[in-house]
Amino acid sequence: MPNSTITKISPTHLQSPVIPSPRGETQAYGTLRRHPLALDANAAAASVDNLNQLLADTLTLAALYKKHHWQASGPNFYSIHLLFDKHFEEQSSLSDLLAERVQTLGGVSIAMAHDIAEFTMIPRCPKGREDTENQIKRLLHAHEVILLEARAMANEAAEHGDTGTNDMIVSNLIRLNETQVWFVAEHIQ
Ligand SMILES: [Fe+2]
Repeated sequence: MPNSTITKISPTHLQSPVIPSPRGETQAYGTLRRHPLALDANAAAASVDNLNQLLADTLTLAALYKKHHWQASGPNFYSIHLLFDKHFEEQSSLSDLLAERVQTLGGVSIAMAHDIAEFTMIPRCPKGREDTENQIKRLLHAHEVILLEARAMANEAAEHGDTGTNDMIVSNLIRLNETQVWFVAEHIQ
């Protein structure tokens, strides 16, 4: 019985690219695609820049929570281990909102680890383990970096008439970060 649809894999086939190379970008980073949002282009561009900064810092904080979830230790190991993962999930969901707001405004969201590392304002942490108190201090500092910039960015969005971005930063980002700070800070007070 002929078997014409199955191609035998040979070393020659493995060396050939199966999927063609990407043909290039359809929108360059830093450019704005105008959507009919009744929003000034300068306002949208400013919000895109600010949201990408918040995105980089949110993704970094999410990774920091995951690191500390994996590397948790001490007498409160189980509750800390679970709490850090809950906060990781919440920060990850927030990052999706931020990235999609960038796209909604016609911008290009950052996404990849090397770009996040280049953008983030959160200090680099060591690869090794730290005790719970130092993990918590590091997390609280990261939250404060985000809250400081977020309040200024929310005010800027409101001044530019971008109430949607203002609402997202206040209702989603600031409130989530403030609540997480409470849950984390109570462990060392
Ligand atoms: Fe886990």
